[in-house]
Amino acid sequence: MTILLPGDAMVVLVGIAGSGKSTFAQAHFAPTEILSSDEFRGVVADDESDQSASEDAFALLHAALRLRLRRGRLTVVDATNVEEWGRRQLLDIAGQERRAAVAIVLDLPVEVCLERLGGRGARPVPPHAVRRQHRELHGSLPTLGAEGFRTVYVIESEAEADAARIERAPRGSAGHNAMSRRNRARRDDARSSNRHRNA
Ligand code: CTP
Ligand code: MG
Repeated sequence: MTILLPGDAMVVLVGIAGSGKSTFAQAHFAPTEILSSDEFRGVVADDESDQSASEDAFALLHAALRLRLRRGRLTVVDATNVEEWGRRQLLDIAGQERRAAVAIVLDLPVEVCLERLGGRGARPVPPHAVRRQHRELHGSLPTLGAEGFRTVYVIESEAEADAARIERAPRGSAGHNAMSRRNRARRDDARSSNRHRNA
């Protein structure tokens, strides 16, 4: 699978605990491009697994996301993102900053994720929480595109995750921009006639 990304996009990873979001992000993106909810829990609470720190952690994550997108820096959000309300907050920010949003869903079998988590010493996640995330994810899958993601890529196995390639379009290139060349020409016409009016 080739994943095409506008060079200034917001990339939202979606997947239950243990689905390999952080592993995927680290394999394909620079550390500074990745905003991880766990790391921001660490920033505010010195403990990446402290769920009581989530609200503050996401406040920082959202602020960093907004400022990076404003600068046109591609930004990857590494959090489970299985709940619609959480994705809505991210999509609102990308919309306000006029950047395209792309979802990469890691939809691996829940048993695979549970087994991996069993082997991960740090940050244990209770199995009932993982299964609840899995139900949320599957409720969301059919409507992710309608929420406002320009493209939704779904990876369903470890082999697919390993084989995925990322291709970035140059920042601001016509093919991937939210605005078509024709609409941009119209906007520029409108701007120059405003300038004339204001002159
Ligand atoms: N892992 C693996 N093979 C992969 C990907 C991940 O064995 N192809 C292992 C990782 O080493 C880790 C565990 O599976 O021990 C979970 O992967 P991780 O990337 O941490 O998953 P996340 O989706 O980031 O989990 P969380 O939501 O809990 O952060
Ligand atoms: Mg992770």
